[in-house]
Amino acid sequence: MSDTLLFSPMTIRGITLKNRIVVPPMHQYSAVKGFPTDWHLMNAGKFAAGGAGLVIVESTKVERRGCGTVGDLGIWDDKFIAPLNRLVTFIKQQNALAGIQLGHSGRKARATRPWEGDGPLQRSPEIEDWDDWTPVAPSAIAHSTRWPVPRALERSEVKDLVQAWGQAARRANEAGFHVLELHGAHGYLVHEFLSERGNQRTDEYGGSEEKRMRFIIEVTEAVRSHWPDHKPLFVRLSVEDNAGWGPEQSVRLARILKAKGVDVIDCSSGGITDIAPIGKEIKYNYQVPLSEYVRRHADILTMAVGLIIHGDQAEQILREKQADLIAIGREILNNPNWPMDAALKLGVDGPFRNVPPQFGYWLGTRAKRGFGTNPSTWQSGLQEGRP
Ligand SMILES: Cc1cc2nc3c(=O)[nH]c(=O)nc-3n(C[C@H](O)[C@H](O)[C@H](O)COP(=O)(O)O)c2cc1C
Repeated sequence: MSDTLLFSPMTIRGITLKNRIVVPPMHQYSAVKGFPTDWHLMNAGKFAAGGAGLVIVESTKVERRGCGTVGDLGIWDDKFIAPLNRLVTFIKQQNALAGIQLGHSGRKARATRPWEGDGPLQRSPEIEDWDDWTPVAPSAIAHSTRWPVPRALERSEVKDLVQAWGQAARRANEAGFHVLELHGAHGYLVHEFLSERGNQRTDEYGGSEEKRMRFIIEVTEAVRSHWPDHKPLFVRLSVEDNAGWGPEQSVRLARILKAKGVDVIDCSSGGITDIAPIGKEIKYNYQVPLSEYVRRHADILTMAVGLIIHGDQAEQILREKQADLIAIGREILNNPNWPMDAALKLGVDGPFRNVPPQFGYWLGTRAKRGFGTNPSTWQSGLQEGRP
């Protein structure tokens, strides 16, 4: 099969992805005071060199208080533009597009890194601005009993935050990113506003569904006013959060966001409670039905994500019109050259042209002799002189 959808280009506004493979935002917990380090360059760089069409840099915080951990990336000041541009430049050099997710951790801010306990941080003299980092949220309701009660945002602070998202979008554009994604999922600030559980405000930002949507709509408007018309805007939603927000609400929101200039809904789930996202069973494609539902009912492009691991699995999702883009998260951590492997598996012409010639050329010449076209560790038994 050489005419795959997975490896067909796609144009959204004025930007063309060379294929439908997207690296979704994945925190690296490795920033220093919000600044990217060489780790981020290596991380984004290896995925871009591995052949993905779009690499989305992790949730990058629009204000200091929004940092989830000490290692979160920041974009709350112009001083972040140049270091982020270093990542963009390298991604572009690999013939990939560069995206960035803008986020704010809300009541889940000031936490440990996942492998250090995945919960609230304990006060420590090493964190100089502990009090300035107090978690804030729409209402003073803790995420769960093991999390602190956040401080409810004043109405004027909500207005300021909307502007902070707009300024972050301006900086992302100045840093050269092609695609912007707003993090509206996983129980963080934007999702907290949408959720009846997280938002019990009595002003215009809380109460009815329409009022709970006001924050994300104003954020989208602010972002769009600073983000050029020719560049795509994605929004990640927890399409089902198992706590009162589900696909029907998501479709109503997606229709409004589309009218405000959002191009793609990145369909995720969960995070507003500690309950597993879709019931108890996490299986291949577990969030794909959410993408299919939003795509069909809101008439908007969608990205599917969540345990999409195999090349033919990704291709089938596209063929069945369940999504327009495919995000490969943990599997691309496992194999940064996933797009090259998928191209081989799907029989795409010139599979090694997906990766830079610095290594693609050599793998291609070796493959012509019949060697090394399947992942090497999965083959058993070497026979003298045979592939
Ligand atoms: C290490 C790690 C960091 C993550 N960080 C983010 C993030 O910054 N923003 C976000 O929306 N999702 C984040 N996620 C979720 C992923 O983007 C993705 O939705 C999830 O891993 C499911 O896809 P997968 O099964 O392909 O890994 C993260 C996931 C991992 C494994």
